[in-house]
Amino acid sequence: MSVLEQTASEKAIELENKYGAHNYHPLPVVLSKGEGVYVWDVEGKKYYDFLSAYSAVNQGHCHPVIVGAMNEQAKTLTLTSRAFHNDMLGKYEKFACEFFNFDKLLPMNTGAEAVETALKICRKWAYEKKGIDENEAEIIVCANNFHGRTTTIISFSNDEVARKNFGPYTKGFIKIEYDNLEALEAELKNNKNIAGFLVEPIQGEAGVYVPSEGYLSKAKALCEKHNVLFIADEVQTGIARTGKILAVDHENVKPDILILGKALSGGAYPVSAVLANDEIMEVIRPGNHGSTFGGNPVAAAVAMAALNVVKDENLAENAEKLGKIFRDELNKFIETSNVATLVRGKGLLNAVVINDSEDSDTAWNICLKLRDNGLLAKPTHGNIIRFAPPLVMNEEQLMDCVSIIIKTLKDFE
Ligand SMILES: Cc1ncc(COP(=O)(O)O)c(C=O)c1O
Repeated sequence: MSVLEQTASEKAIELENKYGAHNYHPLPVVLSKGEGVYVWDVEGKKYYDFLSAYSAVNQGHCHPVIVGAMNEQAKTLTLTSRAFHNDMLGKYEKFACEFFNFDKLLPMNTGAEAVETALKICRKWAYEKKGIDENEAEIIVCANNFHGRTTTIISFSNDEVARKNFGPYTKGFIKIEYDNLEALEAELKNNKNIAGFLVEPIQGEAGVYVPSEGYLSKAKALCEKHNVLFIADEVQTGIARTGKILAVDHENVKPDILILGKALSGGAYPVSAVLANDEIMEVIRPGNHGSTFGGNPVAAAVAMAALNVVKDENLAENAEKLGKIFRDELNKFIETSNVATLVRGKGLLNAVVINDSEDSDTAWNICLKLRDNGLLAKPTHGNIIRFAPPLVMNEEQLMDCVSIIIKTLKDFE
């Protein structure tokens, strides 16, 4: 190949740059195949995937059970819309309600849509059940949250890149510090118009911030005391990622409204859902909410297969076990390291903090080097690198990855 000839990767990146909106800043690697914990680029180089499509591919790439269910259903019936019934939706709703122990499920497609759905349910519940005056309901959210990118959701984000020049913003949200029970209690005590508290059990995008032990259970108790709905956004933390089926299970908390997405399909298809019990979900009536694709037969088949894989392959237990090994090994390294200051996380949702300023490009450069060394990860914010491999990883593969990560970090000492 002459020096002027482009590689397949360069060609693919150029096409995206020329014809695609520049709404992401991807690591320069072009993937064309995935299997289990591995992905391959267009030049045939193999990598460990340590992002799992932001925790969507918990069950591993192209899991045969999930792909099999998707193919079978795609050959039979793909979409009816909710204008008609289909023979898969009810089966899936029953399956998922029993799996997560709720009365009812509202199917959507993306995480952000499911968050929007939860906010709408919460507001309607506030007016029709709690008796808050019309248009006065407020929902408490946490600083540094990440719940998606719609106009309402970015209204209560404090990420200026996500917000600036997208106003006017949606009203009705009060932001408090994450992991601060006093702040929550103060709002709940002083404001009779609070309808709900929306929280990520671990703040993933913000940099994998794990709240203090007891935070979630005490927050839930406070919400109960003040007749406020506890809404858990488990889009990133749910479906075995943190070592339990749900991250709230670590504190035996049952949310009033549960939001799921990403790994609900194992990354095969956009599937999200909101679950709640009857007394909350019954506020939703025909015409209040919907989506052409939400609850389609392919999504239903894929989600049931994806949840079966999580159970059958004990992915929560595996995440719990491998997560401990990962943090132990990295902590040993960090004791003598100048480049990494700490590792934190739960199960296989972890982050390493790099010893540099938030606006430095060290974490990005480390990710480029990790890529060269056969492992794909990405900074979350500035100097924090998230490490979240598919949960089907085995111990030998994890140890191989730990040595790639440590070897790469050592190059930056
Ligand atoms: C906690 C949380 N909620 C919601 C979302 C939005 O999901 P989606 O990108 O599918 O809209 C994300 C995505 O990363 C997330 O991490």
